[in-house]
This record gives sequence, structure tokens and C-alpha cells, in this order.
Amino acid sequence: VTWVEDIGTLSKETNTIPEEFIRPETEQPAITTFEGDSPDVPTIDLSDPDQENLVKLISEAAEEWGIFQVVNHGIPSELMHKLQSVGKEFFQLPRKEKEKYARSANTKSIQGYGTGRVFHMQDVQGKKAWNDHLYHIIWPPSNIDYKFWPQNPVSYRETNEEYAKEVRRVVEKVLTCLSLGLGLEGHVMKEGVGGDELEYMLKINFYPPCPRPDLSLGLTPHVDISTLTVLMPNEVPGLQILKDDIWIRANYIPNALIIIIGDQIQILSNGRYKSVTHRTTVDKERTRISWPVFVEPPGEWVVGPLSQLVTEDNPPKYKAKKFKDHVYCKLNLPQ
Ligand code: SIN
Ligand code: FE2
Repeated sequence: VTWVEDIGTLSKETNTIPEEFIRPETEQPAITTFEGDSPDVPTIDLSDPDQENLVKLISEAAEEWGIFQVVNHGIPSELMHKLQSVGKEFFQLPRKEKEKYARSANTKSIQGYGTGRVFHMQDVQGKKAWNDHLYHIIWPPSNIDYKFWPQNPVSYRETNEEYAKEVRRVVEKVLTCLSLGLGLEGHVMKEGVGGDELEYMLKINFYPPCPRPDLSLGLTPHVDISTLTVLMPNEVPGLQILKDDIWIRANYIPNALIIIIGDQIQILSNGRYKSVTHRTTVDKERTRISWPVFVEPPGEWVVGPLSQLVTEDNPPKYKAKKFKDHVYCKLNLPQ
């Protein structure tokens, strides 16, 4: 009965949702979203030929916001639309079909299809978020497990393989700029978080229409544990970020990608770059879908502040640990 599809249908007439989807007042979007004028999440033109300027804009955004949008990133808009349409087609399949890709209960891996799942510490109280999702690795090829990639629609695979290639180019460019912004050589940041072993995990967040978007959330407040996340949203707004203790909406820009700084870059930069707290709201009538790609170090990779950034005056703010131990300390992973 806790299936969101069923709840959506059942509760449409009554305009109610089950108790477990009602967030505490301190989180309810109707009460906590800032409605005044607020600055927009910075938008950066990634095709800027002036590299010095690009480095300045990206590093300032990573320091002050922990999030920015990139336009003219070079990923063809047809490919972005294709990725969206094959993902949407998968979620429109009957539940039984989707369940063929369900996450295995007895593994540590989060890959696979799931619903209303609880991954974040804040959710331990049993509160639920209004989303279904699918996770699968898209890079490197040796880490891919195609059993979690939908076979229907048939073009799902080639579209995702193509997107993986394109998204890697964008990530490498952003990592280079972030590295240069710290006064380091361009390759240092990428090497600090896994070099060519960096793993790319795609997630599809599927947020069906919700009768009470004022009371519930699609994703509860969290910080990404990744190095960084490249997010492609559909046109239904919903991403909010916590800026100076206020929840503000991220504006939707067609064909832009949203770069979210995650914990590992905050650690690597010894706190210069900030990971950003964010959450998502849902819509009464429309389905919101988003495609974050989490760029992560291999589990055994040790992540700590870069030695080049640590001095007597600027001691390390974080302990160096294997990535999997950073994850373990932070998340309440399901059994
Ligand atoms: C996320 O935080 O993973 C997704 C954000 C979104 O749906 O926009
Ligand atoms: Fe996130």
C-alpha cells in the first residue's frame, strides 16, 4: 500500500496523503520556502574561451554557493531529450516490469529500481519521501552491471552510453577549473578523487504528482556524498538549495546542467569549496523527473585534504579516509 502510484490515485479525491509522507513543520515546503527576491544560482557559460575568467567564475561559485548551472556545455540537446525520453518510458512501464530491475535486498550496492526509499540519516524516524528511483553505474565499463539497465525501451542502452561519454567531458572540464582555482595544476583535483578510476553513477529520480506538495518532499534535505554531481532536470521545477539558512528555488534553464559540489571536493579542498544542502519539492499535477550523475571515487580510494593546500596556518579540517568509510560514517545504508 505504500506504493506512490497507488497513493496518488487513492488520495486524489480526498486531497490527503498518508501520515508518513507529511514532513515535520520545520521541513514543510509551504512554510519554509523563501518567497521574496533572492539571488539566482550562478549560471556559467562553459564555452567561454577566456579560461582565466572561467576558472574564476567556477571557483567563486563553488566557494560561495556549492552549486552552479552550466550552459553551452557541448552536450547536444537532442541527446539530453533522448535520455529524458528513454528514462521516462521506463518509469511508465507497469510496476511489474520495473520490478525486474529492483535493487537486491541482500547487497550493499544501491544499483537498481526502488521506491519511497530511505537513505538519509534524517529519515530514520520513518518519514518517507515522494519518489521512485533507478540507480546504475554508467562508467567505467568494467564496473557496469547491465542487469540494472532497462532493456525496454531498446534504445535505453545506447543513449545512456552516449550520455556517459559526454558527461565525462563536462566533468573533466569542471574538475580542471576547480583545480586551477585552488592554484594547483589542472589535473590535481581529478587525481585526488580517483583519476581514471572515477565512477559515474546515474540516478533517475521520478516524482509522481502529489496531492499535497505543500506538506511533502521529493527528497529530504541532504548533501551529496559524491565528489560532484551533474544534474539534468526536466522542466518541472522542484530543486531547492539552502543558502544562508534560507531555502531558495533553483531556476530552471532549458538545456542547462546543474553542477552540485559534493562532500569529497569539500574535503579535498580543505573546506575552500562547499558542498551544498539541497532538497526537492513535488508538484500537484505534473511529474518531475531528474537525472543526477554522481561522480565518485572508488571505495578503497583514500580522500583527504590535498597536501598542497595544508600548511601550519591552514591545518587539515578533515581526516583522510577511504571513500567507503566516508560513506559509512555518513549514511544509514539499508541492509
Ligand atoms: C538530487 O538531489 O539527487 C536530485 C535533485 C533533483 O531532483 O533536482
Ligand atoms: Fe542530491
